[in-house]
Amino acid sequence: IPTSTEDLDQEVQELLPSLPKEEGWLTSGICLYQGFWCPDNLLRNVIWAQKHFQSHDQDIILASFPKCGTTWLKTLIFSIVNRSRYTSSNTPLLTTTPHKLVPFLEIDLFDKTELPVDLIGTTPSMSPRLLSTHIPCSSLPESIKKSNCRVVYICRNPFDVVVSWFHFAIEGKPGKLDEEHFESFFKGQVALGPFWDHVLGYWKESLEKPHKTSFFMYEDLKGDIVSHLKRLAEFIGYPFSIEEETRGVIQEIADLCSLKNLRDLEVNKSGSYKEKFANDSFFRKGEIFSHAIWLQFSDPKVARDEYQSWCWGIDVSWSFP
Ligand code: A3P
Repeated sequence: IPTSTEDLDQEVQELLPSLPKEEGWLTSGICLYQGFWCPDNLLRNVIWAQKHFQSHDQDIILASFPKCGTTWLKTLIFSIVNRSRYTSSNTPLLTTTPHKLVPFLEIDLFDKTELPVDLIGTTPSMSPRLLSTHIPCSSLPESIKKSNCRVVYICRNPFDVVVSWFHFAIEGKPGKLDEEHFESFFKGQVALGPFWDHVLGYWKESLEKPHKTSFFMYEDLKGDIVSHLKRLAEFIGYPFSIEEETRGVIQEIADLCSLKNLRDLEVNKSGSYKEKFANDSFFRKGEIFSHAIWLQFSDPKVARDEYQSWCWGIDVSWSFP
């Protein structure tokens, strides 16, 4: 096991040329690693996290495919867990971006030149640790699979994911969403793709180990935030008391984390994440264009084909959300 960055970098340099490559979809290059399309620039971090991350029973891991509502779920989980420490007028969410409060394992934490000490030891300095990841279920670090940590997955209907990702990638510049975007998305050759495998990997896990992995839909959260916040809080071990419910604590968290509220905060309107993505690009419209009819298909290929034919029926010159 390489313990220094040089050893690891060398290992990745040797591995990269042997992996199938694609240009990716609205991103830089991607390579096929363990059956998913890993962005070239994250491969090293993913491998390092797989090898060294030490998960603990109290960890709460938020997993998602990009553009499915990750940022929103970060704010909800942070608020649920910290509700006895902060109120909506002094929560760090008012001054710190959600990605800083709930960092990504492979994007934020294992991208340094040294191993992050707090993530590889047997006694973490804080508990619970709120972490997030876009890594598919089958490639999660072994210690996540072995510990009793909780994994919360958020999924969104793929049509809106394509639209959201498109806007995120063009960053407000002129551009047209066309059939090619849908086509490459459906083929699966997108960062962290195939989408279907990502979703169904966690979906199956949530059916097999419901105490460990819980599956949430973006559309369900939007439809009935209060009952889903209750389910979320119970699952992560921070259930709301009857007294809290009557005091309106759940609704208060929902309001604090609403798209409008977060989007209007100065901290989310300015600056950038990883010096690459404008903070405001994570808060756009949050609309639902198509409903989640597709999850009834348990075979990813059937789901993909059905959904693709549904999308082909849509006139792409419509104005998308
Ligand atoms: P749209 O581009 O459709 O508006 P992610 O956080 O996984 O990158 O997902 C981004 C999507 O979630 C964007 O969708 C964004 O607007 C939406 N979003 C961000 N914060 C939200 C919130 N508080 N409530 C609902 N949707 C939110």
